[in-house]
Amino acid sequence: MAQFWKPGTEKPRLVEDEDGGVIFLSSSYSSSSSGYGYVSIEKQRQRLTVYKYRTAILYLVESHATTIVVGETGSGKTTQIPQFLKEAGWADSGRVIACTQPRRLAVQAVASRVAEEMGVKLGEEVGYTIRFEDISNPDLTRIKFLTDGVLLREMMDDPLLTKYSVIMVDEAHERSISTDIVLGLLKKIQKRRPELRLIISSATIEAKSMSNFFLSSKRRQALEGEELRPRLEPAILSVEGRGFNVQIHYVEDPVRDYVQAAVSTVLLINDKEPPGDILVFLTGQDDIDAAIKLLTEEARSNGKNSSGLIILPLYSGLTRAEQDLIFSPTPKGKRKVVISTNIAETSLTLEGIVYVVDSGFSKQRFYNPISDIENLVVAPISKASARQRAGRAGRLRPGMCYRLYTEEYFLNEMSVQGIPEIQRSNLVSCVIQLKALGIDNILGFDWPASPSPESMIRALEVLFSLGVLDDDAKLTSPVGFQVAEIPLEPMIAKMILSSNELGCSDEIIAIAAVLSIQSIWFSARGAQKELDEAKLRFAAAEGDHVTFLNIYKGFLQSGRSSKWCHKNFINYHAMKKVMEIREQLKRIALRLGIVLKSCETDMQLVRKAVTAGFFANACRLEAYSHGGMYKTIRGSQEVYIHPSSVLFRVNPKCVIYHSLVSTDRQYMRNVISIDPSWLTEVAPHFYQQQRHNPTIH
Ligand code: CDP
Ligand code: MG
Repeated sequence: MAQFWKPGTEKPRLVEDEDGGVIFLSSSYSSSSSGYGYVSIEKQRQRLTVYKYRTAILYLVESHATTIVVGETGSGKTTQIPQFLKEAGWADSGRVIACTQPRRLAVQAVASRVAEEMGVKLGEEVGYTIRFEDISNPDLTRIKFLTDGVLLREMMDDPLLTKYSVIMVDEAHERSISTDIVLGLLKKIQKRRPELRLIISSATIEAKSMSNFFLSSKRRQALEGEELRPRLEPAILSVEGRGFNVQIHYVEDPVRDYVQAAVSTVLLINDKEPPGDILVFLTGQDDIDAAIKLLTEEARSNGKNSSGLIILPLYSGLTRAEQDLIFSPTPKGKRKVVISTNIAETSLTLEGIVYVVDSGFSKQRFYNPISDIENLVVAPISKASARQRAGRAGRLRPGMCYRLYTEEYFLNEMSVQGIPEIQRSNLVSCVIQLKALGIDNILGFDWPASPSPESMIRALEVLFSLGVLDDDAKLTSPVGFQVAEIPLEPMIAKMILSSNELGCSDEIIAIAAVLSIQSIWFSARGAQKELDEAKLRFAAAEGDHVTFLNIYKGFLQSGRSSKWCHKNFINYHAMKKVMEIREQLKRIALRLGIVLKSCETDMQLVRKAVTAGFFANACRLEAYSHGGMYKTIRGSQEVYIHPSSVLFRVNPKCVIYHSLVSTDRQYMRNVISIDPSWLTEVAPHFYQQQRHNPTIH
């Protein structure tokens, strides 16, 4: 393994990157050495940096159509600004203040925090909505947190978002695909609703480009000679406070295994450094679980020094109780180690963190319009992210950040900013949503960052083949409108619609519900063998989709028993969520005129319905090397069945995958075997106008 810094023996250096290097943090908490939970909530609120800017924020919102608020993570933007607005009357007369977040978990966490601060029941005055979970009340909710994806959906029913007086687009620096679409649409809405106020809040200095984005339309409006009020140029407010230094340490040589390196670093900190919680940035549930397992084992074999560690994961999909543990104060004499995805980078603030361990990676979506392949890749973060991560150390006192990459790499190789998600995503969902909102000229849409024309053309082509768009690229009736109505990716929506014709909607809706959940398996810490055995009990020769159906049926037969789940290594909470989602999908289906019908045991119908939605992901077995090499029929890309699939090593001739993950190879997750002749049946256009002209046999 790589050589490490030796805390205690080697004097740490302050980093000097381009802009002075030292990272400053808000010091507004320094008086609270006892941590959270010991001071009254009102006092805590007053200590936040934004509290000092309350009047300024309210004045700017009153007098400007758009206000851009930039402030360090933890300064109180998300939890306080909506409360200031409410106190100032922006939620009077039945109006609602909205605050969007790119992440579902952040929506839940901040909403419950704000409800607690206001002393109200979550779901009443303060509520939230994420996909498939609406904890808000149309009559009572005055402050509503929601994902930007949900706000987009709301525009389908209410294009001008009339119930909102102020919309705060939070975490704008993340530049998620939905944030960008929302920004473009809000700019349009503003022209029609001069009384609407926007707040764009972000953790980094993106203010100028954001301001220019909102300015350009204002100038145009001004030229058109409209009566313009309030002031149209966006106001920019920076709420940064002075703060503590964070010392940055680098590894001397590149590390080969960042999970192992992260674990060793945590143990080293625990051995040598004074008390203070540790936040570790890894990439996703898989490496977080692996790190927890390794850390638990090594801490155990390390003896008494490590016994005080409380090790907690932080990724989306955690239950409420698990989330609460993350935010609860660390008991005296203990040290919390939170191992997180980049959700803790800016979306959530954890108190008490003094040490940050940064792997330098995160999971990112990448799309190649030439091969038409999108996958989640573990990729290097940007310098901006690295600084944010370091900044999480030391809200209580000076902190330390251990970067698991070299200083040379940071200075010379890391990109300055990340690429907006819209420029590295498949645009199928995005195009259909804009079409459903009546935006026909998608290339000419006012994007904060333009997507590539190639990706756009690919998306149009897929939507045309799905029967969602017609020759004029307009939504077809009824299929196009129905697909747009279903809050799932268009391919799943199409699969559901086709199941209606095929007579297997009951089964397909259950499968769609399972596919909307990250994983229904209980993460197998040290019990891979038992998990594999449990999987075998449900395994279906047809593939993973039918296996999910078997599990779903088994769960129902068990009387929805948690014991049954436990015995079979199935995550009970995930199954409960599946049932909820299924209920909601059923309601949507009924609204669309889909009759719930079971095909009993005829799994061919189920496979055909999957093909009708996912034909673009069809692959053919090419060789038995490396456990079975497939190529996508359309783009001739090499792909392999993921080891977690029931079809791993079974290698049917022709399969369809649900998604791809890329590690050492491109792996297909959730795979089903199909008959290749169905492809030309369900998508003749897609499989006949071939550039490579592959034969389907
Ligand atoms: O949005 P910003 O990063 O500026 O700060 P915030 O999320 O409003 O956080 C302000 C304070 O609320 C921080 O001290 C957080 O630790 C605290 N908070 C919390 O204790 N529990 C939550 N679920 C959310 C925030
Ligand atoms: Mg925030």
